[in-house]
Amino acid sequence: MKDGELLVRKINEGVVIDHIRVGRGKIILSMLGVDEKYRFVLVSNVESRKLGRKDLIKVEGWFPKKEEMEIIALVSGEVTINIVKNNEVVEKFKVSPPSRVEGFVKCRNPRCITNDEREKEFVKPLLEKVSGSPLIYSCHYCDVRMDESEILRNLTVSGR
Ligand code: CTP
Ligand code: ZN
Repeated sequence: MKDGELLVRKINEGVVIDHIRVGRGKIILSMLGVDEKYRFVLVSNVESRKLGRKDLIKVEGWFPKKEEMEIIALVSGEVTINIVKNNEVVEKFKVSPPSRVEGFVKCRNPRCITNDEREKEFVKPLLEKVSGSPLIYSCHYCDVRMDESEILRNLTVSGR
């Protein structure tokens, strides 16, 4: 049996987010607004055949929307999102970082229109993917480029 399975039980209804890069599980939970309102587990730094080591999250009674799945992949790269119903995996999504990210990440350019006090209420940040590996996005408005560590530094928590 795999590490992750030894540590946590199967769930009945909810989501299992698998193959998360080590250390990114915590960020994903906070981005999604999954807190003690829910019953969840985060297992970190367990063995994985594919990655060597991985994080894994299980949340009972909660299912991510499409946009939330994309944010999960933005934070961690390729992940596997398993939808569990009646104790069975009924859907398995292998998601990758999205081609466009609206909201969720602030542009790193302080002079960008999306960071302007008067405008930012009307103009949401919008990033477009330039390259997948290495992961690079560019701001739709000011063209500044952001690599993975800059994206992680500029995440804004969405809540729910
Ligand atoms: N899982 C769970 N509760 C269930 C069913 C599955 O917590 N009722 C978990 C499993 O423990 C596993 C993940 O969901 O961590 C995916 O389940 P499954 O597709 O059965 O496992 P694998 O085939 O090993 O997945 P993969 O090929 O994506 O690695
Ligand atoms: Zn910008």
